[in-house]
Amino acid sequence: QTCALPIYDGLAAGKGVVIANDRSEAALALKDMLLDDRFGKGKVVVEEYLTGPEFSFMALVCDKQVWPLALAQDHKRAFDGDEGPNTGGMGAYSPLPFIRWEDEAYALEKILKPVAEGLFEAGCPFRGLLYGGLMKTPDGIKVIEFNCRFGDPETEVVLPRLETDIYTVFSAVADGTPMPELKWSDNAVIGFVMASRGYPGKYSKGYEIEGVEDALSDPDVKIYHMGTSLKEGKLVTAGGRVMMVIASGKDLQDAHAKALAATGKIRCDNLFFRRDIGHYSL
Ligand code: GLY
Repeated sequence: QTCALPIYDGLAAGKGVVIANDRSEAALALKDMLLDDRFGKGKVVVEEYLTGPEFSFMALVCDKQVWPLALAQDHKRAFDGDEGPNTGGMGAYSPLPFIRWEDEAYALEKILKPVAEGLFEAGCPFRGLLYGGLMKTPDGIKVIEFNCRFGDPETEVVLPRLETDIYTVFSAVADGTPMPELKWSDNAVIGFVMASRGYPGKYSKGYEIEGVEDALSDPDVKIYHMGTSLKEGKLVTAGGRVMMVIASGKDLQDAHAKALAATGKIRCDNLFFRRDIGHYSL
């Protein structure tokens, strides 16, 4: 029996959304928020309970103009099989075979473009990156959230597929100069985030990382540094999410195999990563 989603309408340190699986769970959450004032005096918003795979649809916006970027999906749970606590993202991939072009066209025409137009009409025109956190439900594409920034770690797998010069693209958004055609590589890209053991909870820093050069010997591999630093000339861990290893391949299977091989070359006593990034589409 599906139910609703009580959401505290205010700051709640990331704990304000309750995915209530039945009425009693929803009632408990509402009591907690409205009668026991868990987050202080405030209101709640009750949203529809949605099911289906989530995906990220980012678009560049300049006033009423909207240019969609390639779709991506991230993986928020810490461990393989979508187990464990939520994180800032343990990996991502692009493209998404489970989203049909009709779904993408619907999301662009009925969700992202109307938002840009609505902002313009309301007198607060937007120029930048509009991030749609969407879900493919049995009733069609629905909205989970919007952000006004690039998604992380989705951007790390989307931008490597963009073949058009990024400076010209960003200038078009910022200054209203003509937008070139956005050309996308047919290649797939998958990225694995390597994180400090204990993340997203407590973790230690300062562990030496070796093997980066070796991992980069494959020209289809890139490494983004997220939480590293140099200590006495050695690369060491310096954050929760430490680095993201991405690989490009002719399809998702190929990209996955290359990314996995590259992560296997990184040696560090305190890193873990998910091996099943892309599992929904592999
Ligand atoms: N990956 C989710 C976000 O950037 O909000």
